[in-house]
Amino acid sequence: MSIIKVTNLQKYFKVAKHQRGLWGSLRSLITREYEPVRAVDGISFEIQPGELIGYLGPNGAGKSTTIKILTGLLVPSGGEVLVNGYVPWRERRRYVARIGAVFGQRTTLWWDLPVIESLDLLKHIYQIPAEQYRRNLAEFRELLQLDAFLNTPVRSLSLGQRMRADICAALLHNPDLLFLDEPTIGLDVVAKERIRQFIRHINQERGTTVILTTHDLSDVAKLCRRVMIIDRGQLLFDGRLGALQHRFGGRRELVVDLADDYPHAGVDGARIAHRDGQRVTYQFEPGHITASELIGRISARYRILDLAVREPDIEATIRRIYEERLLEKTGPMLGSNGYR
Ligand SMILES: Nc1ncnc2c1ncn2[C@@H]1O[C@H](COP(=O)(O)OP(=O)(O)O)[C@@H](O)[C@H]1O
Ligand SMILES: [Mg+2]
Repeated sequence: MSIIKVTNLQKYFKVAKHQRGLWGSLRSLITREYEPVRAVDGISFEIQPGELIGYLGPNGAGKSTTIKILTGLLVPSGGEVLVNGYVPWRERRRYVARIGAVFGQRTTLWWDLPVIESLDLLKHIYQIPAEQYRRNLAEFRELLQLDAFLNTPVRSLSLGQRMRADICAALLHNPDLLFLDEPTIGLDVVAKERIRQFIRHINQERGTTVILTTHDLSDVAKLCRRVMIIDRGQLLFDGRLGALQHRFGGRRELVVDLADDYPHAGVDGARIAHRDGQRVTYQFEPGHITASELIGRISARYRILDLAVREPDIEATIRRIYEERLLEKTGPMLGSNGYR
């Protein structure tokens, strides 16, 4: 049984059409011409309980809009969503009692209150049993290192501190699902790592299903087995990062230090991308020849001192997907990603 089922989800915003010049502006005021922005444009996916999913895409891709619909903050223009048995925007009050949500761009805490008072307020709002609140707070204080700023008003917190306080707040009522919208945005490397560790801990120890949006590939690479890549409101990929590499990854490279200055270091099945004296960089297509076959061919002709295989850069792979919109060339991959 999936915990989230999204079918052909759409969200269109009407944005006033910009017309040039004074008369254009006047005309758009009078006629109220609108241009639809397809923020989410026909997305479908299912998520199983306990998964930790990365929802990756560039700015403006439609990530936040998706999360706002899934958390009941926005009503979609079309399609169906079922989360934990609820239609989020229909039964919002009962629904939000079972989920947690953190939006990197804004806090859900009270701006002028010390952190601890915000948390106490949430205890009453969610009617969290005293013992559960005490245990959760103790655990999160330690894991998120909240003690240094528990008595500081939220408005005076650093971005990283605020994020930790917000994440704590979203989990006090033991939600089954946690939605994180850009939880590491604007944080330095250390703060990012601390948040990632905590997310991993919550997912593994409590079995909480986590969906996190990010435009930061390193979040996904470090945390998530499954990644969904969205661009311009459409899902371009849904599967494991490794499968992404396999399917769209560029050439692999074999860097070899030869024992001699061989004038021609060429072999069948690879091309020489770069040569610097005895160091030769071969490029080869993963589908056509394996690294060990290539090494065999090279060592049959030349003496090798040392070698290293370089994997294609995943960041470059994803950039290529955005740029080339491989979706259009290969057709949708949904349902055929082999993900389980
Ligand atoms: N309230 C809104 N009104 C009009 N356009 C919006 C609104 N919210 C988002 N958009 C547009 O929808 C697209 C997707 O936005 P968003 O979901 O915030 O992207 P992301 O979170 O991936 O950066 C963008 O083009 C954005 O400008
Ligand atoms: Mg966003």
